[in-house]
Amino acid sequence: MEDLTPDPATLDPIEIASRDEIEALQLERLRWSLHHAYEHVPFYRRSFDEAGVHPDELTDLSDLARFPFTTKEDLRAHYPFGMFAVPRDRVVRIHASSGTTGRATVVGYTRHDLDVWADVVARSIRAAGGRPGHMVHVAYGYGLFTGGLGAHAGAERLGCTVVPVSGGMTPRQVQLICDFEPDVIMVTPSYMLAILDEFRAQGRDPRATSLKVGIFGAEPWTDAMRAEIEDAFDMHAVDIYGLSEVIGPGVANECVETKDGLHIWEDHFYPEIIDPETGAVLPDGERGELVFTSLTKEAFPVIRYRTRDLTRLLPGTARTMRRMEKVTGRSDDMMIVRGVNVFPSQIEEQVLTVAALAPHWQIELSREGRLDTLTVLVEAASSEIDASARDRAGRDLATAIKQNVGVSAEVRVLEPGGVERSAGKARRVIDRRRSDA
Ligand code: DLL
Repeated sequence: MEDLTPDPATLDPIEIASRDEIEALQLERLRWSLHHAYEHVPFYRRSFDEAGVHPDELTDLSDLARFPFTTKEDLRAHYPFGMFAVPRDRVVRIHASSGTTGRATVVGYTRHDLDVWADVVARSIRAAGGRPGHMVHVAYGYGLFTGGLGAHAGAERLGCTVVPVSGGMTPRQVQLICDFEPDVIMVTPSYMLAILDEFRAQGRDPRATSLKVGIFGAEPWTDAMRAEIEDAFDMHAVDIYGLSEVIGPGVANECVETKDGLHIWEDHFYPEIIDPETGAVLPDGERGELVFTSLTKEAFPVIRYRTRDLTRLLPGTARTMRRMEKVTGRSDDMMIVRGVNVFPSQIEEQVLTVAALAPHWQIELSREGRLDTLTVLVEAASSEIDASARDRAGRDLATAIKQNVGVSAEVRVLEPGGVERSAGKARRVIDRRRSDA
């Protein structure tokens, strides 16, 4: 794989500024953001007043801990535009995330917000190894989802040639990659695997493509999956993180030269880690729930927004901005199976240890009598694998899950193509427990 480390002269100076400089900028921007939210969004005024805090009382970054949290439920309660801090005619773009239940969460951007967003995505693509002049194939969905348009604007901002393919029509994805010869692909990791299968189905060699790097996010994926994709395509696989409420993709990104977690673009998004039970702020290095406060957003400021994503903060390496460890779970997708806490990513890790299995998997939870059962649906790596080898692979996976995750799982090894595919975020867990009860 090519060395794609960016020339330090091309970085934004703040990416490698001293911690003092970064924190001074954060403090100044945080004051602005708290005032902006308090003065322009009735919800924040009410919630600060109820908590007995005022933006003027913030004199140090640590004072933020005195301000109340904001949750997804708060945003939903103000559907659609009740959390906007500017008049509607200054909002130039709307996005929304559907989520699995309830109303969509609607977010808005001013012209300046779109500009900041393009800047942070451009920075992310550069960190991943993208350069001006590279061709970027965008296979994140375009539309209300922030993936497609967010990636698009960032790639344009960096000076790349953008191919706005969106998700779906997998044979055409392969055709365009082969014909246009992009350097970079931006797509969910699970859909990249569907593209990989299509390469093989067409008898084309995925290692022979022009792709140098894939920038994968919007859903959890493991280092085992990274190894699988890097090997299959002979390219770098780098993690991008973000959420609509905070801006979209481009809140944090891994650096291609280190691949050791995602540098948070702390000049725009202030991170905290809290204990999800008590709400207490945890020191860097400890695992908990990630909380973000926007520092520069105009249309849709968020103050102490609880992401539900579980991770920890680590010191900077390739950049002085702090890193977040790869998000491998959300507090709301933790499954409790017969009393054992299980994250879907733990199952993925085990699937990838069994050579006869493909990395396509899904979990079904159901209840037999009073007992939860966890079934892993997974595909055989190829149709040539016969019934007895499949059985063996299934047993191996069940043993690996029992030993390493601590739960008994039933494994069903399906034909290649037997597990549901998605052109965007994969649906990893089907919980039938409630309907069975
Ligand atoms: O998924 C934004 C995005 C688009 C990020 C494209 C990266 C690439 P939402 O639809 O609002 O926004 O979903 C946000 O997705 O809270 C995480 O739970 C999950 N997520 C996003 N990126 C990652 C990642 C976009 N790299 C929610 N690793 C977040 C793990 C991720 N989970």
